[in-house]
Amino acid sequence: MNVYDAQRMSDLLGAEGYAETSAVEDADLVILNTCHIRERAAEKIFSELGRLRALKAARAEAGRATRIVVAGCVAQAEGAEIYRRQSAVDVVVGPQSYHRLPELLRRAERESRVIDTDFPAEDKFDFLSPPSPGRIRQRGVSAFVTVQEGCDKFCTFCVVPYTRGAEMSRPLGAVLEEVATLAAAGVREVTLLGQNVNAYHGDAGGRPASLAQLCAEVARVPGIARVRYTTSHPNDMDDGLIEAHRREEKLMPFLHLPVQSGSDRILASMNRKHTSAAYLTLCEKIRAARPDIALSSDFIVGFPGETEDDFGETLALIEKIGFASAFSFKYSPRPGTPGADRTDQIEEDVKIARLARLQALLEGQRQAFNRDMVGRTLDVLIEKRGRHAGQIAGKTGYLQPVQIEADAGLIGAVVAVEIVATGSNSLFGRLAHPPAGRPPEFVQTPRGSV
Ligand code: 5AD
Ligand code: SF4
Repeated sequence: MNVYDAQRMSDLLGAEGYAETSAVEDADLVILNTCHIRERAAEKIFSELGRLRALKAARAEAGRATRIVVAGCVAQAEGAEIYRRQSAVDVVVGPQSYHRLPELLRRAERESRVIDTDFPAEDKFDFLSPPSPGRIRQRGVSAFVTVQEGCDKFCTFCVVPYTRGAEMSRPLGAVLEEVATLAAAGVREVTLLGQNVNAYHGDAGGRPASLAQLCAEVARVPGIARVRYTTSHPNDMDDGLIEAHRREEKLMPFLHLPVQSGSDRILASMNRKHTSAAYLTLCEKIRAARPDIALSSDFIVGFPGETEDDFGETLALIEKIGFASAFSFKYSPRPGTPGADRTDQIEEDVKIARLARLQALLEGQRQAFNRDMVGRTLDVLIEKRGRHAGQIAGKTGYLQPVQIEADAGLIGAVVAVEIVATGSNSLFGRLAHPPAGRPPEFVQTPRGSV
C-alpha cells in the first residue's frame, strides 16, 4: 500500500509541476514514505533522515533549498518525535491526509514546520489526481489499486488500527473508474489492496458491494486479464469470495491469508478470533473451490507467552497446509498495542532461533512448490525486460517470477510458457504452444491493443 500511496503522492505533485528523479541529490523535495508495522522499519527512517539532513545542508551551501517530508504511518504515530529528533524535517503528513500535500508544502514556506496527522472527514481519494497515461505505462502492466483502508480488528500485536484508522471502503464505481483509467493505458493486472481487503463493503448505488462482486466487476473492465487482492483476514473469507475463486477465471489462483500462529492459545491472546482448526478447514474449503490455488501466509514468532509447544503447533500447521510462499517475522513490540505491555516477552535469542526453524520449513515448501512447476505449461503475464539481453520477465498466476528468452514486444501479453528449470527465486521457461481449446485472445494480447 505504501507503493500505491507513493505513486499517488507523485501524481498529486506532478500536477503541481514536480517531476520524479532517481537521484536524491537532485531533489528539491524528498518524501520519505514510512512504515510503522515493525520496529526495524520505523528505526530505518531516523538513519535515513540523518543522511538527508547532511544532503540538505550541502545543497544549501550550493544555494539550493531542499524540502523534506515524512509521510506514512511513522509520521502518523510519531510526528512529534520526528520533529524532536530531526530538525531538518519540514512537513509531517499521515497516510490519511497526504492529499493535502500541495497545501502543506505552501504552508511550510510560511511556517517553519507543518504537521498534519488528522483523520479528515473528507475522502482523500476524491482529491487525488489521476496519473497520466505516460506515468501509468512507466509503472508497468501490473498495478495496485487501494480499495479499502484501515482496520477494526485490533490484533494485539498490530499498529494498523491506530495508524491507518477505522476501516473504510472506496465506492465500487470509484474503483472501477480507476481501473478503467489504468487499463486504457495498458495495465493488464490489478491487485486490489486493503489492510483488511476482504472486509470490503464499498457503496454500490446505496448498497454495499462485497469483494467478490468487486473482483467480478474489475475482471470485466476491458483490457484487464488478471485480478488479485491482498491482504485478507481468515474471518472475512466468506462463501461468496470462495465461490469467486471457483467461478472467476481472471481471479488468480494465489491467496495471501495470514494466520500468524498455529497455537490456539496464542491466536486467542493475539485477538485473532479464530482457531488453528478453523483456519485449516477454511484452507480446505478454498482448495475444494479452486484445487490449484497457492496459499501464502504471514507468521509471527515469539509473541509474548509463546512456549516451545505453541511454536511447535505453528510448525505443525505449516506442515499440514503447505504454503507456496510466506512472510515471517520476530514479534516486535509496538507502542500503544496491548502486546507491548505484556510482561512475558520472549527473549531475543529464542525468537531468532524459532524464526530460523520456521523459515527453513517455509523455504523448503516454497522450493518444492516451485520445483513442481518444471515441465508444466503456465500462463505468464510478461511485465518487463529480463535480467539479461534477449530475456523477458513475467509472473505466473501463482506470483512466481519467470525469466524467458523472448522478444520484449510481448510485454503486456499473457503467454503460455513451458517451465524448464527453477532458480533460487525465479523460474526459467520458454514460449510454448498454447494448449488446445484456449480462447485465442487470452494467449497473446500485445500491449496497446486493448
Ligand atoms: N511484530 C511482528 N510482526 C508484525 N506484523 C504486524 N505487526 C507485527 C509486530 N508487532 C506482521 C504480521 C502481519 C504483517 C503485515 O506484519 O504478520 O500480517
Ligand atoms: Fe493488523 Fe491485520 Fe490484525 Fe488488522 S487484521 S489488526 S491489519 S494484523
